[in-house]
Parts: sequence; structure tokens; C-alpha cells
Amino acid sequence: PDKGVAGIAILRYPSTSPKSEYRGPILFNPGGPGNSGVAAVRQSGSAFATVFGEQYDIVGFDSRGLSYSTPIVSFFNSAAERNWSPATRNSVFPALNASDEAVPTQWARLQLLGRLAEERDTEHFLQHMTTDNVARDMLSITEAFGFEKLQYWGISYGTILGATFATLIPDKVERMVIDGVVDGEAWLSANLTNSVADTDAALQTFFDGCAAAGPDRCAFHAPTAADIAANLSALTTRIRNEPLAVITNVSYGVFDYSALRNIIFDMLFTPYESFTILAEGLAQLATGNATLLYRLNEVPPFECTKCGAKEPVFHLNKYEGGVATSCGDAVAVNDSVSQVRDFYLNEAMVSSLGGEIFGNWRIVCAGWKIHREGRPVGANTSFPLLVIGNTADPVTPLFWANKTAAAFPHSVLLTQDTPGHTSMSAKSSCTSMHMRRYFQNGTLPEEGTVCSADDELFPS
Ligand SMILES: *[C@@H]1O[C@H](CO)[C@@H](O)[C@H](O)[C@H]1NC(C)=O
Ligand SMILES: *[C@@H]1O[C@H](CO)[C@@H](O)[C@H](O)[C@H]1NC(C)=O
Ligand SMILES: *[C@@H]1O[C@H](CO)[C@@H](O)[C@H](O)[C@H]1NC(C)=O
Ligand SMILES: *[C@@H]1O[C@H](CO)[C@@H](O)[C@H](O)[C@H]1NC(C)=O
Ligand SMILES: *[C@@H]1O[C@H](CO)[C@@H](O)[C@H](O)[C@H]1NC(C)=O
Ligand SMILES: *[C@@H]1O[C@H](CO)[C@@H](O)[C@H](O)[C@H]1NC(C)=O
Ligand SMILES: *[C@@H]1O[C@H](CO)[C@@H](O)[C@H](O)[C@H]1NC(C)=O
Ligand SMILES: *[C@@H]1O[C@H](CO)[C@@H](O)[C@H](O)[C@H]1NC(C)=O
Ligand SMILES: *[C@@H]1O[C@H](CO)[C@@H](O)[C@H](O)[C@H]1NC(C)=O
Repeated sequence: PDKGVAGIAILRYPSTSPKSEYRGPILFNPGGPGNSGVAAVRQSGSAFATVFGEQYDIVGFDSRGLSYSTPIVSFFNSAAERNWSPATRNSVFPALNASDEAVPTQWARLQLLGRLAEERDTEHFLQHMTTDNVARDMLSITEAFGFEKLQYWGISYGTILGATFATLIPDKVERMVIDGVVDGEAWLSANLTNSVADTDAALQTFFDGCAAAGPDRCAFHAPTAADIAANLSALTTRIRNEPLAVITNVSYGVFDYSALRNIIFDMLFTPYESFTILAEGLAQLATGNATLLYRLNEVPPFECTKCGAKEPVFHLNKYEGGVATSCGDAVAVNDSVSQVRDFYLNEAMVSSLGGEIFGNWRIVCAGWKIHREGRPVGANTSFPLLVIGNTADPVTPLFWANKTAAAFPHSVLLTQDTPGHTSMSAKSSCTSMHMRRYFQNGTLPEEGTVCSADDELFPS
């Protein structure tokens, strides 16, 4: 507290129950790291309240350094400078198998980013925006609502935040759902290789689902899943050799191998929303038209309306905040070019697609210079955790959820039998009901409970 002042932005979707039934706040973290909890609750607070019940305040907050919180993480002196590293996934995470230069170029860019971050952190703020401190902030928020113990739902990186809280302050857990679980050991060692353990399984659900759906519901249809996979592979080779120029009413750009691999990877996060459109886009791409796929990741061109502003426009510091959080939580890695290349090649053996996109995390951390002390997660908590994992999550494999559940005695693993990232990626009234019972009555699902989705992957 004597190091200075930070403002933590909070947004509440209020309880509508009578005071006598009020059950306090449920804090939500949407992961990233870097995503805004304030924005998430503004968008989805009413939907969350439908699941948990009107007795709760649904509370989103922005971690230190992010979005609406102050001060805000910024590696750049102006918005024009920030445009050096545009906010598209394709520029942030170029496909590492795109060319022989991809790995060394990315390594050097991220050495540069790490140096800028360190040199420009003149207030020494970055070392205070650790996950440990955000966990402590969650207790302060809970206490400000007049409650002693945390009620929490965290997805993706939010599971690291939750598990960190449960490890540091285990006697202050009232309810905690961690959903789409990241392994604490992997996080701490900046080695997310196994994050892609189920990526290929997620991609396989696209092939299987498309074959089963038929040509009316899946535009990229072929008779068998293997045919569809072979068609995609041939199309990918074609785009690698012959990228396409795209001009839309918003922007223009090149649709190349890296763009295609990124789009496929992205769509695996939200299959129930995205597989139909992905299939349509691939079918159009096969005819030489990349417009639809390009638009899925389109970012309007940089405009100089706020060129001189040092503070990033809301949400544009998502990447800077994510890097500072994830690499700051981990040990220093300092890998050389040949070490990150070996690292990537090892990850590509787990999943070729996952490795060439997510292998970038290691390269990001290889340039990072500001670190906290970490510790393994696990503790006996004052209330058991509800741990949720999907059977084919492209970035948080089920075995990570299982491993984390084992580190917190009496917690229970609920398996959602769907592709996609976190339980939020599919509608499942079964999962929702278990979450509601857990919060309201403290009832955990039976060991071994498996929930399925309400919807089909390729709806008619
Ligand atoms: C990273 O983790 C993977 C999977 O556990 C392992 O094969 C690899 O050796 C690790 N790499 C480093 C550099 O520790
Ligand atoms: C997809 O595969 C089928 C069967 O192998 C083939 O007939 C068809 O031409 C392929 N379509 C595309 C777009 O590559
Ligand atoms: C661009 O075109 C799309 C449809 O193709 C339309 O939905 C969108 O509003 C247009 N955007 C602008 C800025 O004109
Ligand atoms: C390409 O596809 C877009 C829709 O994604 C469509 O608006 C456009 O007319 C197509 N272009 C050509 C040349 O067919
Ligand atoms: C990594 O680099 C930092 C300087 O940036 C140095 O202090 C540290 O000892 C290095 N760590 C290893 C494991 O080489
Ligand atoms: C890189 O792409 C080529 C061509 O698609 C493929 O044969 C190779 O296995 C890929 N390498 C890795 C490490 O995924
Ligand atoms: C939980 O408590 C038991 C019994 O005291 C102890 O054996 C175990 O090591 C504790 N587990 C953790 C993760 O702290
Ligand atoms: C889950 O973890 C338990 C140990 O806690 C292990 O016996 C089991 O094989 C694991 N299951 C999976 C699917 O990883
Ligand atoms: C919680 O328990 C009460 C009393 O047993 C019951 O009426 C209610 O339906 C339960 N709520 C849920 C969500 O299961």
C-alpha cells in the first residue's frame, strides 16, 4: 500500500433480490490475460445473472494496468508508435511455419518489445501488476461489498488468477469455479507446450461435424472427414504459394498462409458460433475469394486522430497487458533464437497448428525482463472448487483441468463434452445447472459428471 495508488475499474450487474435474500458479489475474470472484466460484465452480466440467480451482484473488474484501470500499461510513447505492432492476431502471433525467417524475426521483434517495456517502465509499475496482487485485489473488492470470502468464476487465464487466490488465501474461498484450466506449473515456467494437447482434437470435430452435417449445412463438405481434411491441406498449400489480395469497404490487405492458419485456430475457440462461417469462408477461398475469411479478422486501418496520445485507446493495451501479466508471472527464460526454434518444433509435434500459433508465447517471454516470485498452485481451501474442462479445448486441454483439480483436495472436475475454449463456448443447460447449484446450494456435481451441448455444431 505504501508504493503508490492504482485505480481498479469495477462494474456491477446488480442483484434484484430483496435484501434478505442478497448473497453478495460473484467476481468474474474473462482471461486473456488482458481481457476486460468490465466490458465482459457490461455485455453479459444479465446472461450470467440468469445462470447464477438474482441473489448475486455480478462483478467485473479490470486487473491492474488494464483497460479502464489506472495507471495503464503502455510500452509505447504514442498511438502512432503503437501501430508498429498492430493489434491483429495475425501480426501478434504470426504462423511460425510460414517461412524460415518467421521464428528469428519474431524473436528479434520481441526482444525489442521487452526492452521497450523495461526502459519505459520508469515508475516501476510493471512489477506490481502481478497475478498475486490481482488476487489480493479480489479480496479487497469482496470486502468492500461487506463479505469476507470470495465468490468467483474465472475462465482461461482467470483460472490462474483463481488458483493463485486459492493457494495464497485458501481460507477465504466461499465459491470458486475455474473453467478452461491453465496448468500452474506450465504458466510459471513459460512453457505452454501442452496447451495445444487437444488442438488437433478440436480441429477433428470440424472435419467430423462437417462430414456428418452434409453439403447443405457445411459449405466445405466432402464425403468423409478425411476428404475434408485433405481438401483443407491442399487449400493451405495453395494459399502458401499464392496468397490473395483483398479489398473491402473498410480496409485492404493480403490473405496469406499465416492469416489462414490464424483464422482456423481462432475459430476453434468458439465452434458453435464459428464452424458454419468457417466452412463457408473456406468454400469461397477454394474458388479464389478470400474476402469472407479476411473479414473475420479485419481491423480498420490506423487513423491519426489520436496520434500523440500516450495512453492507449481502451482495449488496445490488451496485448501489452497480456504480455506483462503472463511473462511477468513466469521465470526468466532468456532463450536464444535456436532455443526458441527447438521449443517451437517440440510444440509442433504436439499439434502442428497449435504449435505454430501458440509457440509464440515462448518467444514473447524470451524477450521479457520483469519477473515476480512464483509458486506451485494447490491448497486445502475453505470450500471445494468446481473445476470445468472441455473434451476438445484448443488451448486448455482436459488433462490440465484434471491435474489442477487434484491439487485442490475435495474439488470436483465437471467435464463438458464439447470442442471450444471454456464452457462458455457452448450452450449447455447441464453445465449451467451445475454452476447454479454450486453457487446457490454449495452442491458439487458427482465425480465423473459429463455434460453435453444443447446445440449442434453445424445447425440447420
Ligand atoms: C516444455 O514442456 C514440454 C511438455 O511437457 C516438454 O516436452 C519440454 O521439454 C519443455 N521445454 C522446456 C524448454 O522446458
Ligand atoms: C474435396 O474433396 C473431394 C473428394 O476428395 C473432391 O472431389 C473435391 O474436389 C474437393 N474439393 C475441394 C474444394 O478441394
Ligand atoms: C461494409 O460492407 C458490409 C457488407 O458487405 C456492411 O455490413 C458494412 O456496414 C460496410 N461497412 C462500411 C464501413 O461501409
Ligand atoms: C467474394 O465474396 C464476398 C462475400 O464474402 C462477396 O461479397 C464478393 O462479391 C465475392 N467476390 C467475387 C469476385 O465473387
Ligand atoms: C536472463 O537475463 C537476465 C538479464 O536480462 C539475467 O539477469 C539472468 O541471469 C538471465 N537468466 C538466465 C537463466 O540466464
Ligand atoms: C510446416 O508446414 C509443412 C507444409 O505444410 C509441413 O509439411 C510441416 O510438417 C510443417 N512443420 C511443422 C513443424 O509443423
Ligand atoms: C491438505 O491437508 C491434508 C491433511 O492435513 C494434507 O495432508 C495435504 O498435504 C494438504 N494438501 C494441500 C494441497 O495443501
Ligand atoms: C486425472 O487425474 C487422476 C489423478 O488425480 C488420474 O488418475 C487420471 O488418470 C487423470 N485422468 C485424465 C483423463 O487425465
Ligand atoms: C437449492 O436447494 C433448495 C432447497 O433444497 C432447492 O429448493 C433449490 O431448488 C436448490 N437450487 C438449485 C439451483 O438446485
